Amino acid sequence: MENLNVNIENILNFTPKYTINNYDNEICKNISLLHNRTGKGNNSLGWLDLPSSISDEQIKEINNLATEIKDKIDILVIIGIGGSYLGAKMVIEALSNNFEHLQEKKSNPIILFAGQNICEDYISELLAILEDKSYAIVVISKSGTTTEPAIAFRFLKKHIENKYGKSEAQKRIIAVTDETKGALRKLADNEGYKTFIIPDDVGGRYSVLTPVGLVPIALAGFNIKKLIDGAKLMQNITKNEKDIYKNPAAIYAVSRNALYNINKTTEILVTYNPKLVYLAEWWKQLYGESEGKENKGIFPASVNFTADLHSMGQYIQEGLRNIFETVITIEKPKYKLTILQDPENLDNLNYLTGKRINEVNKMAELGTVMAHVDGGVPNIKIEIPEINEFYIGQLIYFFEKACAISGYTLDINPFDQPGVEAYKKNMFTLLKKPGY
Ligand code: PA5
Repeated sequence: MENLNVNIENILNFTPKYTINNYDNEICKNISLLHNRTGKGNNSLGWLDLPSSISDEQIKEINNLATEIKDKIDILVIIGIGGSYLGAKMVIEALSNNFEHLQEKKSNPIILFAGQNICEDYISELLAILEDKSYAIVVISKSGTTTEPAIAFRFLKKHIENKYGKSEAQKRIIAVTDETKGALRKLADNEGYKTFIIPDDVGGRYSVLTPVGLVPIALAGFNIKKLIDGAKLMQNITKNEKDIYKNPAAIYAVSRNALYNINKTTEILVTYNPKLVYLAEWWKQLYGESEGKENKGIFPASVNFTADLHSMGQYIQEGLRNIFETVITIEKPKYKLTILQDPENLDNLNYLTGKRINEVNKMAELGTVMAHVDGGVPNIKIEIPEINEFYIGQLIYFFEKACAISGYTLDINPFDQPGVEAYKKNMFTLLKKPGY
């Protein structure tokens, strides 16, 4: 397998091939709506050609900043929430060593996040950790007015200014925000911070390939050019408007909608590598915020196996039959580890002697898919050869494109999120914010 592949053979016993084929015209029409920019939310389609429109100069500017700043800091604090946080977090987690924080020799700063909660303990403990560390801040907010990151930044700004003095602090703060609007833009201009622009026509959850994701990912030491190349390739592959079977994003979008039609209203994204837990978190935001509106939409959930087979496995096998699974499967791991013979064999594991850990994981995956399909849970498989920048880039564009196609098939606007205002209004009223 060279590139991302979608395998739907394990849904066809639930929703036969002709039901998939029935979507052909509608899906092709929806893909053209996207490409012609004539569908709902068409002022938010900047992400569609982001990978190909990012210039080498933009990449260079971000990489130069990374080179300049990386050597003088131990820690980089990324402030942001929702779409201004999850994309970077997902890529950095996927590409980092599992024990990055404990590595002795570090060539890259440790990445910490803030502004993704309103937790007093979290901010207090973060400030305490930063006391004797050299650090810099990337503050990210498109609107520039979001409460959580604004609160975190107020504390961190003060802290970094007290620690380094105003002029050095100014060099250690980078802002990623709108070109002209919002409180963060104003503040950044007043203080003279280095800034990167979030394009107007790219919404938060589709913004990982803008400086929102690229700046933190580059500063964490990863190759953003390869990430973009992977996304670019997927941009080309998913251009096909004529044949759903030749467009992986179309086939995933169709499959989800066909399953939703037979009352499979919850989709569980399944991963078998702990580095992909945040891929699922990012995916949940993308699909939940895009599709959950007008009393419609598949509920996106996630599990990380095999850990969650020992908790959620029971429900998936025998609970309410309204679920289907989408498994992200990785062909080969980075390392090789073979199980050794133990002369005493007290743990009875000698039957695994000579097998790779990955083979055991793969058999757990296969056995689980078979059991869940037998138990009434259809299964979509998304395969990538390995975890690296190039394939994560493919996954990003694939999921974004499929989400947009799927949203149009549900006949909703996949680019707005009117529902998230409701809690904010109540919170602001309760907090007596002027104007509420
Ligand atoms: O997807 C979205 O639009 C949201 O999740 C936003 O990204 C999130 O609310 C943060 O917004 P902002 O970047 O304006 O601070």
